[in-house]
Amino acid sequence: MNLDLTGKHALVCGSTQGIGKAAAMELAALGATVTLMARNEPRLKNAVADLGGEGKHDYIVADFSDPENVKTAIANYLRKEKIIHILVNNTGGPPGGPITEAKTEEFTSAFSNHLLCNHILVQAVLPGMKSAAYGRIVNIISTSVKQPLRGLGVSNTIRAAVANWAKTLSIEVAQYGITVNNVLPGATATQRLDSILDTKSQKSGVTRETAEKEMLKEIPAARFGAPEEVAAAIAFLATPAAAYINGINVPVDGGRTGNL
Ligand SMILES: NC(=O)c1ccc[n+]([C@@H]2O[C@H](COP(=O)([O-])OP(=O)(O)OC[C@H]3O[C@@H](n4cnc5c(N)ncnc54)[C@H](OP(=O)(O)O)[C@@H]3O)[C@@H](O)[C@H]2O)c1
Repeated sequence: MNLDLTGKHALVCGSTQGIGKAAAMELAALGATVTLMARNEPRLKNAVADLGGEGKHDYIVADFSDPENVKTAIANYLRKEKIIHILVNNTGGPPGGPITEAKTEEFTSAFSNHLLCNHILVQAVLPGMKSAAYGRIVNIISTSVKQPLRGLGVSNTIRAAVANWAKTLSIEVAQYGITVNNVLPGATATQRLDSILDTKSQKSGVTRETAEKEMLKEIPAARFGAPEEVAAAIAFLATPAAAYINGINVPVDGGRTGNL
């Protein structure tokens, strides 16, 4: 099985912490040169240092809440680094809350952050992937694509849009040696999960410990996932070994999702 990413260049978004950073670490461990993208420059510098490699890896400062900023940042970067072989689309999740209380601006903002920025990045990197006859696009979404999660109304809605965008894209680009797949994290121990648990405990008036226990009851593995466990699926989909896996959703959720 060929898992070697030597000579491949990966762009990993939302990668100063959590799942994105773990994915960057795993891709670097498989030999890829990694460029990180997020908003916070000092944290990007720290994350690049954590990747090791003595100057091999790099970063781009960009904010997914501003699609024009992302477009300019990637265009400037591609002037010096012509080819990105692996694109991991990822950013912070939309705020929680029931759909009946969601403001219209929350939907437009989530659509912009999650779908438009992914699309801008894909359009920028596709020519390089085509010329290399190698492309791996992995979108970090959520298991809500398969089964909506309570209290995440806006997120459930936008994740489904991203999944259908990705499936459509996968059909159009397959002929060029490019795959597009979605990784769907379950409850994964990151800051995002911390803030979801805080919101749950505040809104339902229970302790944080009780909120955690209630969430764990729904997970057959009876524990939260580690970011590295989600990263392993992302990295595998980026390898030569995964060339014939295209247009799928891969839950990494300890068995929580109640359908196939
Ligand atoms: N953790 C879970 O249980 C879970 C479950 C299902 C789905 N997910 C989804 O998986 C994705 C990653 O989750 P996570 O838990 O790793 O999240 P996280 O710990 O909150 O990390 C989010 C990352 O995205 C970056 N980011 C946030 N807003 C950004 C923006 N506007 N522009 C550019 N970068 C931005 C952050 O870096 P900077 O702050 O430095 O910019 C950070 O590196 C999210 O979409 C999340 O909703 C997570």
